[in-house]
Amino acid sequence: MRFAAIFLLLIPLRILAQEEAIYLNVDAPIELRVEDALSRMTLEEKVDMCHGHSKFTSAGVPRLGIPQIWWSDGPHGVRAEFLADKYVYDDRLDDFITAFPALTALAATWNPELAYEYGQALGDEALYRGKTVMLGPGLNICRTPLNGRNFEYMGEDPMLCAEMAIPYIQGLQSKGVAACVKHFALNNQENWRLDIDVQCSDRALHEIYLPAFKRAVAEGGAWALMGGYNRVRGEHASHNKLLLCDILRRQWNYDGVVVSDWGGAHDTFQAANNGLDVEMGTSSPYNKNILADPYLEAMRSGLIDSTTVNEKVRNILRLIFRTSMSGKRGFGAICTPAHYELCRQIGEESIVLLKNNGILPLEPNQKRRILVVGENATLPLNLAGGSSELKVKDMYSPLDAIRNIYGEEVVYTPGYKSGPYTYNVENPVPQEVTESLHREAVAMARQADVVIYIGGLNKNSYQDCENRDRYTYNLIFGQDSLINALADVNPNIIVANISGAPFAMPWIDKVPAVIQSWYLGTMIGPAMADVISGRANPSGKLPFSFPKRIEDCGAHALGQLSYPGVEDADGRHHQEYLDDIMVGYRWYDTKKIPALFPFGYGLSYTTFKCGKPTLEKHGQNWTVDVPVTNTGKTDGKETLQLYVCDVKSRLPRPAKELKAFSKVYLKPGETKNVILTLSPDDLKYYDPEVSDWVLEPGKFQLLIGTSSTNISHKINIEI
Ligand code: GLC
Repeated sequence: MRFAAIFLLLIPLRILAQEEAIYLNVDAPIELRVEDALSRMTLEEKVDMCHGHSKFTSAGVPRLGIPQIWWSDGPHGVRAEFLADKYVYDDRLDDFITAFPALTALAATWNPELAYEYGQALGDEALYRGKTVMLGPGLNICRTPLNGRNFEYMGEDPMLCAEMAIPYIQGLQSKGVAACVKHFALNNQENWRLDIDVQCSDRALHEIYLPAFKRAVAEGGAWALMGGYNRVRGEHASHNKLLLCDILRRQWNYDGVVVSDWGGAHDTFQAANNGLDVEMGTSSPYNKNILADPYLEAMRSGLIDSTTVNEKVRNILRLIFRTSMSGKRGFGAICTPAHYELCRQIGEESIVLLKNNGILPLEPNQKRRILVVGENATLPLNLAGGSSELKVKDMYSPLDAIRNIYGEEVVYTPGYKSGPYTYNVENPVPQEVTESLHREAVAMARQADVVIYIGGLNKNSYQDCENRDRYTYNLIFGQDSLINALADVNPNIIVANISGAPFAMPWIDKVPAVIQSWYLGTMIGPAMADVISGRANPSGKLPFSFPKRIEDCGAHALGQLSYPGVEDADGRHHQEYLDDIMVGYRWYDTKKIPALFPFGYGLSYTTFKCGKPTLEKHGQNWTVDVPVTNTGKTDGKETLQLYVCDVKSRLPRPAKELKAFSKVYLKPGETKNVILTLSPDDLKYYDPEVSDWVLEPGKFQLLIGTSSTNISHKINIEI
């Protein structure tokens, strides 16, 4: 009897224990865990989860053992730790990490497999550092070459951007670390980013600026998304009804978290009702911010519907159960040889050979006097640039790597100085300093057999840096005149520029070789030296066009309203994307304004030939089978690109749009058949009259080639 009584007593405890386990049970379905945890939370605990409690954490539920969320920059490495309540680095000794290549470099590889590996490696470093969410990738479009943050993004074409972002997100999240795609949306410049109201047509929105975000959510499965600072059609992007409720939630069925950009939330009612889940970037007292006490009070007084907080908390709990409470996360690792080797491989595959009269590759083991000129040969370009800056454990400079291959007798001189990171237009480097460095470099170039110039942009303000756009399309710090002067005294000059955005090259006809390198992080040196020496055959393709002049660019051809925007009576700004859907090569090829170097362009140390393509129909889809042959003497990679031209359409369409690409490795003499697939969706355009994508009957041309302008074959199809 006594035993039975005890057993009966145990049942409720067991059920309670059973109930207690649901949200803590890592094997339970996530939605059950979400509902169970939500049912246990007070209103205060729910509101607590919806805002920051330090610069880079937002609350969990301590009482229930639900951990806080650690948010971390950035897209190409785990940023150093800040003090809890100041944007001041904590100068710790345990947060030195790998600097992975910037995402322009990843895009320039046109290699989605590398993007997946990149995401995995970044995920391992984030795990080791105890992060829940990595604040990247940035999916904004390179609309203007002057945008200070082009280096963080993946170029001018939404399809390339999406194809490279999806595997990055999948790789990162395969480690139980959330990607946070940003800055949603229309944050395509830094000038006045905090207040500018961006107006653009529905077509430009849906055909250019949203597709990468849409696919990152629908195909990449992104678990987090960051609203931008700017306004879109009058409302701040971080709590914008059109973007976050109508499009992101209702049309795209997004089930992740929406976080504001840091300090990007401005209005409690909009934040509560327009889909913002977590307000970040606030300061103490943290309970006084937009989605904190004001939100709690508004719900208590009935001014705001209290079910809004449940939706937010469901998204936040789901994020936590997908990451820190998934029960499946590893322990990660940082600065491993594998991570470094991956950085080197991505770096090598990202470098674009723009011009080469044969001086490259510069064979090692030859007796020759090599002079390296340029500050970027030694400058640690992982620092500065804004929120994506990184504190690296190792940084192998181009100069060290070149000396590693060609010997210690390689001579170096900076040739120019860029001044402090806070460099701005008011306090350029003193002219006499620039002139003396210039004179010294030219004098040394007279004595050299070969000059390797390593310059370009850097991470100073008004260069490749957050919060400012560049104020000129040219290189600065006296580089254009320096390159000209060096070429005048030594025709054997190789220009190896490093940048995250296009720039003018007034000296292009005077130099025999140009390579375009990127912010490649820890392994920038070995990657560049491998390409210069021929240890690696460059296979990068430009993710954005290099217009000859900034006036040739669509964003800059249509007046100040289009770029950078105009000031309003209240001191804020607004702009209209008058270039509309004609961004990048869409503009240059439609307006027949040849770019200096076009989108998708990149040479190799070998040569390739595209044979006659074969078109086949498979159900709704088409395949284009293109035999590609390596007709040169070294193995290499070529990227085949397929663009679509709608011969005649009711609405204006660009002369061509990238719809498929594939990179192929070929040994000398080898031929492979590259298959490119096309679906009817690839032929559609967005029709604002029906607010949907439409496939218009008629003729289309499929343009196959190895850059947006190097088209080797055209195939006509008809719908
Ligand atoms: C910055 C950036 C954003 C970054 C965030 C946190 O202002 O716009 O990209 O992730 O704040 O540093």
